[in-house]
Amino acid sequence: MVEISTTVGRLKLQNPTMLASGILGDSGDSLLRVARSGAGAVVTKSIGREPREGNPSPSLVELEHGLLNGIGLANPGIDNYRAEVEVALQGDVPVIGSVFAEDVEFYGPLARTMEVYGVQALELNLSCPHAEGLEEIAGDADLISQVTAEVKSAVKVPVFVKLSPNVRDIALLAQAAEEAGGDGIIAINTVKAMSILPEVAKPVLGQTMGGLSGPAIKPVGVRCVYQIYEAVDIPLVGVGGVANGLDAVEYIMAGARAVQIGSGIHYRGLEVFEAVCREIEAFMEEHGYRRLEEMVGIAHE
Ligand SMILES: Cc1cc2nc3c(=O)[nH]c(=O)nc-3n(C[C@H](O)[C@H](O)[C@H](O)COP(=O)(O)O)c2cc1C
Repeated sequence: MVEISTTVGRLKLQNPTMLASGILGDSGDSLLRVARSGAGAVVTKSIGREPREGNPSPSLVELEHGLLNGIGLANPGIDNYRAEVEVALQGDVPVIGSVFAEDVEFYGPLARTMEVYGVQALELNLSCPHAEGLEEIAGDADLISQVTAEVKSAVKVPVFVKLSPNVRDIALLAQAAEEAGGDGIIAINTVKAMSILPEVAKPVLGQTMGGLSGPAIKPVGVRCVYQIYEAVDIPLVGVGGVANGLDAVEYIMAGARAVQIGSGIHYRGLEVFEAVCREIEAFMEEHGYRRLEEMVGIAHE
């Protein structure tokens, strides 16, 4: 028997898979279903201060090797989110509350409210490539440091900082999060992208540009995790294009202690969490690894 339980700082996970933020929308019922489908943890949709409408449709399209979304940061607002977190908490796996804000000073109070609702950790979304205002935070080490420090002083639960790949030096930004007290790094958010429909000579997304996810971005995510692993000592979680066990193992060997799965649900359904776990175990058995930890970062050796 091999052992795939893992830890991300103080957070203990029965297995290394988590639901990535936003993919299934904002309902607590969806989070609960994912928890009961075998995910080791679930992350909420990113929640802001006020309710926010979605972007013009179409806002999600399937491309050849990934999904392009311009969902933006549509969400019900923090004051309307308590009940959803409470439903998700019935799933007996850690619930990680994702928050975003247009300004540094709003992150602390949002995070505190999520903590009061009962989440076991926070994820700071600094990196949505299609919401105005946020791109500045995503690429600016000083702002990342301020946001992280602000949230750290507002809550007691672990604080994970989610980074965008759409920046010049992601390792430097991870260091800024670490120095400000961040308990872990989640990498990556979607890759800024667009697609055009030649027949109508128009962008496919109502929003023009959006974020690319799924298989196409896995090599970008693995590269980011690899670079960040060399730059910081806090734990990492890999995201981007994970749909099978080998995808997860790539991220783990690059330095991740867990992976998040978003678009993978589109390709394999909610069974993807169980399937990825069984496929990681099969790989470990075949290659003589007994504990998941033995694989973390070994591509660097
Ligand atoms: C429809 C959709 C909505 C998303 N919403 C959020 C969000 O609210 N907050 C966030 O941090 N990331 C959001 N993401 C990004 C994912 O959490 C993840 O970082 C990205 O999709 C890469 O992982 P994947 O290839 O497994 O989908 C969203 C992605 C998609 C496709």
